Amino acid sequence: VTPPGVEGITARELAGLGLAPGVPTPGGVPFGAVHGELYAANLMLRTATRVLVRLAEFPARAFYELERKAKRVPWGLVLRPGDPVAFRVTSRKSKLYHLDGIAERLTSSCGGSPGPESTDYTDDTDDSGEPIDSPAAGRAPQLIIVRVFRDLVTISADSSGDLLHRRGYRQALGKAPLRETLAAAMLLTAEYDGTGPLVDPFCGSGTIPIESALIARRIPPGIDRRFAFEHWPSYEPALWESVRAGGRARMLDRAPAPILGWDRDAGAIAAAASNAARAGVGGDVVVAQGAISGLVVPPGPGIIVSNPPYGVRLGEAGDLRDLYARFGRVLRAECPGWRAALLSAAREHDAATGLGFVERWHTSNGGVKVRCSVVDIPVA
Ligand SMILES: C[S@@+](CC[C@H](N)C(=O)[O-])C[C@H]1O[C@@H](n2cnc3c(N)ncnc32)[C@H](O)[C@@H]1O
Repeated sequence: VTPPGVEGITARELAGLGLAPGVPTPGGVPFGAVHGELYAANLMLRTATRVLVRLAEFPARAFYELERKAKRVPWGLVLRPGDPVAFRVTSRKSKLYHLDGIAERLTSSCGGSPGPESTDYTDDTDDSGEPIDSPAAGRAPQLIIVRVFRDLVTISADSSGDLLHRRGYRQALGKAPLRETLAAAMLLTAEYDGTGPLVDPFCGSGTIPIESALIARRIPPGIDRRFAFEHWPSYEPALWESVRAGGRARMLDRAPAPILGWDRDAGAIAAAASNAARAGVGGDVVVAQGAISGLVVPPGPGIIVSNPPYGVRLGEAGDLRDLYARFGRVLRAECPGWRAALLSAAREHDAATGLGFVERWHTSNGGVKVRCSVVDIPVA
């Protein structure tokens, strides 16, 4: 599952991991995997929201048919009798449309016990970048996602647990934090690989510089977190350890090139520094306080990746055009020959830079429609 709009980037990531992606659908990319590859996808994917395992797909038009076919679903791969389980059911254009009724039938056939709902089970695409909510005491229920469409029932188990953008490092928040998966998607769209300098002139709580450092040092985004698949009866701990050890072995001690986060707000700079330290990349990310007009970049060319104020959430609509125009002038003067990728809420903002940004994808971040655009800044 990916943020809608970034499926193509996730597909490229999968291909890079040697996991041949199928044709993307809105909000997802299918792929086939054996257990170790499933673990690797959870560990390594920087732009995916979660990884689902398809358990079954069958037609059903009545509850008795659903119950009969549900008995043949291989629940034992992901659940032990009595394990807490939560069903998230959607139905469209189908005879079976009573969502609670579907969930009840499936709960009794899977042998699990209904677990408490957690906020993690709201719509993945509507995440506002809130701090991590660890489920209340005890173990989070195994999430099973059920889609019924034109009488075809598709049952999938969530192998990730907490959404994958929750890397665990971001506890100090700025004013309008960017989801980690979107920051990574912007960096991969700009073809950032860590070998050249990276600057975010509006870094806020530091999400883009921190994701840059993770890429530059080849740190798997999930290296320090837990996953739902670790509770599965089919879980192979030694295999997971070897996948994780393989990820660790490729990590670099230092980012090869400078990574700079810049913001005029002292609180944001403090948050960025503490988040970077928590992510283990405090030595790779330099943060500095200053307005965009005073931006000083390391010797380049490098890449600018940034998420300037939107206006929608920050309430600065009147001045935004000026701010983007100033940003454009600074980029032309300070960063000739660099590439820039920008996440903004309106075409007019990109246009105000005067740089000819071209949209590559759009999605939503915390309910705001945003677009990622890229330009190569001309050499004067
Ligand atoms: C949308 S937020 C960036 C959020 C960030 N990507 C994150 O994940 O936290 C925009 C940031 O631009 C900063 N900002 C606004 N005007 C600025 C200016 N003129 N110069 C530098 N920074 C500015 C704000 O302080 C805010 O932190």
